[in-house]
Amino acid sequence: MDLLQQLGWRYAVKKFDPERVIAAEHLEKILEAARLAPSAFGLQPYRLLVIADKQVREALVEHSMHQDKVLNSSHLLVFAIRREINDADIEQYLQLIAGTRDAPRENLAGLERILREFIGGMSPENYRNWASRQAYLALGNLLTACALLQVDACPMEGFVPAAYDRVLELDQIGLAATVIATLGYRAADDPYARLRKVRMPKEEFVIRI
Ligand SMILES: Cc1cc2nc3c(=O)[nH]c(=O)nc-3n(C[C@H](O)[C@H](O)[C@H](O)COP(=O)(O)O)c2cc1C
Repeated sequence: MDLLQQLGWRYAVKKFDPERVIAAEHLEKILEAARLAPSAFGLQPYRLLVIADKQVREALVEHSMHQDKVLNSSHLLVFAIRREINDADIEQYLQLIAGTRDAPRENLAGLERILREFIGGMSPENYRNWASRQAYLALGNLLTACALLQVDACPMEGFVPAAYDRVLELDQIGLAATVIATLGYRAADDPYARLRKVRMPKEEFVIRI
């Protein structure tokens, strides 16, 4: 399968086929692609919520600029950043590294210092912006994985994060919605499927020095 061909095949779907559901095997691969995304220091300051429940999604339509693909797609995914990262979170991450790589925890003292300084040195606003940027990288991985698996998707910022937090009770688990994606299969009559992709010319986009 050709990567560029698939990236040309994908587009931001406006109208999903409400009858089609993504096969579990494909969905798991797509979620794994998001999990495997790089993040600064590897901290992964976000979680990915998978929302199949139609009732929950129905409640979210009005908080999504009435974009009914939130309801009519196969799955709604919500990228949510951690509201904060504290010392216990940093310790948990260091333990994960030590456990995964079979390395002594003591060897990670230098990284611990760097992480504490880095996280502690950010204002709450800077932290939120930084964490969101990490989440968007995972969104990018996810969209590419969808394209390779011929699963349609639409990345979406057209929603009210605070309302999502309320409906999904995200603040109770220390999360804040930052970007969402709807996944599924394009409707046969989605007019956007036939539109040419609009991108600036490569000569303008790429600056070679
Ligand atoms: C971060 C982000 C947010 C977006 N939000 C929405 C949205 O709320 N609703 C929508 O229909 N499309 C949304 N889009 C889709 C873009 O409009 C679309 O990706 C862009 O026009 C390029 O077209 P293509 O993806 O079809 O190639 C969003 C895309 C991105 C990357």
